[in-house]
Amino acid sequence: MTFGEQSQARGRRIGLVCLAGFMGSGKTTVGRLLASQTGSRFVDLDERIETAAGMSIREFFERHGEPPFRELEHETLAKVLGESAESGEAAIVALGGGTFAQAQNRELLRKAGAAVVWLDCPIEELIRRCATMTNRPLFRDELSLRQLYEQRLPSYQIADARVESSGEPREVIARILELEWFERVGR
Ligand code: S3P
Repeated sequence: MTFGEQSQARGRRIGLVCLAGFMGSGKTTVGRLLASQTGSRFVDLDERIETAAGMSIREFFERHGEPPFRELEHETLAKVLGESAESGEAAIVALGGGTFAQAQNRELLRKAGAAVVWLDCPIEELIRRCATMTNRPLFRDELSLRQLYEQRLPSYQIADARVESSGEPREVIARILELEWFERVGR
């Protein structure tokens, strides 16, 4: 059973759409615009992690390393999903690049009834975009980025939907809005 089928079998909660995908795939930009277009609340998981940590993600990685980051990411996701369930408001959540690659996070998302959209962007374009970013601790060099991408692909592939995200944000949003289930789940 794919992630989507499992999620569906449990009965999805109306209005919780999460954007997954590699660093540079456009989760935050697309999520923010999509939320304003659909009248949903927007939550950026990385931003919430930084608030919880009281420092930037880069600084957190430098001080504590990746395993404590993954723990904080998991706790913060649980909090965000809990708040969303409590408020009952429609929400678009931009996940971090590694969030959906962690089994314990997929489990949380499944339990929350979230619909997960993978913003799929070719690796060459991701490398181009990441090259200009200074706040990504996991971007060391091109080879390690390619390896991380390969390692994460199988996780992204089990999202509920895949949307090509190499173009302009408005094109990506149009594709998400065209998804057959978005009418039922996303509004
Ligand atoms: C990470 C991606 C980042 C952020 C952290 C770890 C990853 O999010 O969560 O630096 O593991 O790929 P973005 O994908 O929003 O850059």
